[in-house]
This record gives sequence, C-alpha cells and structure tokens, in this order.
Amino acid sequence: MAGVKIDGLEKKFGSLRVLKGIDLDIRDGEFVSFLGPSGCGKTTLLRSIAGLEEIDGGRVVLGGQPISKLPPAKRDIAMVFQNYALYPHMNVYKNLSFGLSLNGVPKAEIDERVQNAARILQITELLKRRPKQLSGGQRQRVAIGRAIVRDPKLFLLDEPLSNLDAGLRVTMRVELANLHKRLGVTMIYVTHDQVEAMTLSDRVVVLDQGKVAQFGTPLELFYAPRNLFVASFIGSPKMNFLDVSVKISGEKELTVSAEELSGEIKVALEAAAKDVAGPHTLGIRPDNIELVAQDEAHMSGQVLLVERLGTESQVHIKLENGQTFVAIARGTHPAATGDRVYLKFPAQHCHIFNGEGQAYPRELDAETRSLIDRQKSLHGAAQRGEEK
Ligand SMILES: Nc1ncnc2c1ncn2[C@@H]1O[C@H](COP(=O)(O)OP(=O)(O)O)[C@@H](O)[C@H]1O
Ligand SMILES: [Mg+2]
Repeated sequence: MAGVKIDGLEKKFGSLRVLKGIDLDIRDGEFVSFLGPSGCGKTTLLRSIAGLEEIDGGRVVLGGQPISKLPPAKRDIAMVFQNYALYPHMNVYKNLSFGLSLNGVPKAEIDERVQNAARILQITELLKRRPKQLSGGQRQRVAIGRAIVRDPKLFLLDEPLSNLDAGLRVTMRVELANLHKRLGVTMIYVTHDQVEAMTLSDRVVVLDQGKVAQFGTPLELFYAPRNLFVASFIGSPKMNFLDVSVKISGEKELTVSAEELSGEIKVALEAAAKDVAGPHTLGIRPDNIELVAQDEAHMSGQVLLVERLGTESQVHIKLENGQTFVAIARGTHPAATGDRVYLKFPAQHCHIFNGEGQAYPRELDAETRSLIDRQKSLHGAAQRGEEK
C-alpha cells in the first residue's frame, strides 16, 4: 500500500502539450477518480504513472519512492484496461497465473494467489474456462483478478466498465467499491462518467485540457465548484448560467444584477471579494430554481417541454433573452408547453464566477457544510479500515 505524489508532471506528444503541470497528492488507501471529457488527458496521466509513457517533466513518487525513472515492471503497479486484453488461448487460471510464472514465482505460491483472487472475485468455478466462454462482466473480473494476483502497491483502472451494458456497469460498480474496501489498496480510476466518479471515489480529480480543474470530494465538487468548468461538468441536468454584473455590497457579500433579472440577488461569500469589475456569470442548478408566483420571481419564461419522471419534472424554459434554462420541480408539475412560468433563484444556491471563470467561494449553509464534512470523515474512517 502506498500513496502517490505527482509534482509538475508534463507530457507532450510531438508539439502537443497534453499534460500541463499536474500536481496531485493521493493518500495511501484512497480511491481517486480522474474525471473529464474525452481527450482531456486521463489515459495519458494514468499511463505516465504506470511508466507506459515517458514524461517530459516533473516526477511521480509512490510510497515515498521516486519511480519516474523505473521501468513499468519495477513500479509495483497493476493496470486494468478498458479492453480487457485477456489471452484468448489460455483458460482463466492461466490468464491469472501467467505473469507470475514469467516472474518466477514458485508454483505453490502462484496457486495460492490465484485461488485467493478467484475467491475475492467469485470466479472460482470459471478457472478452467477460456475467455470466449465468459460474459463481459466475467471477463472484466478476470482482468481485475490479473491485477489482484500481483498484489501491487497501486491499482490503475482505465474505464474498466465502459464496454459493459448499463445494468452490469451498476453491478460491477458496487463490486469495485467492495473490492476496494476489502483490499484497502490505493486505486486510481479513470472515467468520463460523473456518476461512476461521484459514487465510487473518496476524491475526484476533474481534468480540463491537461490541467487539474479541481481535486476534491464528490460533494465539494458539487456544492463548491471552483470554476465554470467543474460547475458545468458536475451535475445532471447541467447547471444553468446567466451573464450578470456584480458589485460589492457588504464585507462578504456580492449584489448581482442583470437586465433579465427583476430585482437584485445578494450572495453571501466565505471571504471578502476584491476586484469585481467586468462581466460575471451566475450559475444555478436546475433543482435549486423555484417556480413561483409572478410577484416573487426574478425572471419569467415560456415552457418548451416538461419531462415528467414521476419523482420529479424537468421543465425546459425559454427565457426572454433566448437562452434555455432547465428547472426541476418535485413530483409531477402541471405546466404545459407554451405556459408562462416564473423563476426564482434563491440566493444561497447561486454560484458566482468572475471573468476568468473562477468561483467566489460561497458561504455554505450549515446543513450543506455538515454533509460535506460528513463525507470527508466517512472516507477518513474507510481509510483507517473502520466500518462505515
Ligand atoms: N500516442 C499518442 N500520440 C499522439 N497523441 C496522443 C497519443 N495518445 C494520446 N494523444 C492525444 O493526447 C490527448 C489526450 O489523450 P488521452 O489521454 O487518451 O485522453 P482521455 O483518456 O482523457 O480521453 C488527446 O488529444 C489525444 O489525441
Ligand atoms: Mg482515455
């Protein structure tokens, strides 16, 4: 077991700068996801840690030992790929044991490790089968088993579930979470799926074009996104955004106004804002918009579409300025296409971003703050091997 420290990692392909100075400190036993859109550098970062890519700058430290100069085989890291890359002509037992045989591990020890991995993954009865006689989920388990038998210091998983159908992905997600709990080993998991990242991870690294946009617990990313990129990437349906101007109205308070808004919105901040000149952006999540009576509203719009999902209704609203906002109402909302609706943006749920897209840290209400702190302490407990 070991933590991973990454300092100033740089990677170029030809003239293309793919990783632009990545700094990360991943704790021993932590489950961390790299999350971001396709092409942002997730796989390259993972392969750089594994030693499968030569890096152009910075360093990687595993369990206190600098490993950037070590060949992949000497790094004590196991990687699971998206396409499981099993040997088709070998049965499951051979697939699991092959790497160990190559490394000269004694036969009795190989058998013990294979049987142990098979038991953990519940594939003991499949050991004699060939990969083509297995389902997608079973193959993926064998691929993970190949990593487990090596008993590595660090597991790297690159979108390991993306070839599975939706139902199986959910099952395997739960299995992976349990596996991490049982092994207690540091795992880094690459995904472009925010639900996977948010449900599996102790902390999530959001990557934006080769840079760390934010590294935090799932709830920190959701309630306190540090910039527009994270705010719009995390959460589904997406946060709504409106161009606004702001002025400082109190020691730790901004007043937001816009042509489209009737009245002003006063947003409480965690720290005093300094320079607030220029264009700003207000962000509000769909479930935080309230549909209210006209005299309480900040804005009105026309209903384009109502998606009624039973537990909630997603109301798509065309604003006067031509933008579309989505509001979520609990239960079944009666609005019909063409209706005029009135929107309220409760100040405590408004996110404010400056011209560079950086958020002003909001003052969070006590309930939200305690949710975030609780998640942090649960993960702390998990790392210490205590029951959740
Ligand atoms: N071997 C390579 N040669 C040249 N460009 C590459 C290579 N591998 C990845 N890239 C480029 O690097 C960027 C990041 O790729 P990648 O790390 O695979 O992204 P992700 O895994 O987030 O989808 C992309 O622009 C991709 O086209
Ligand atoms: Mg990738």
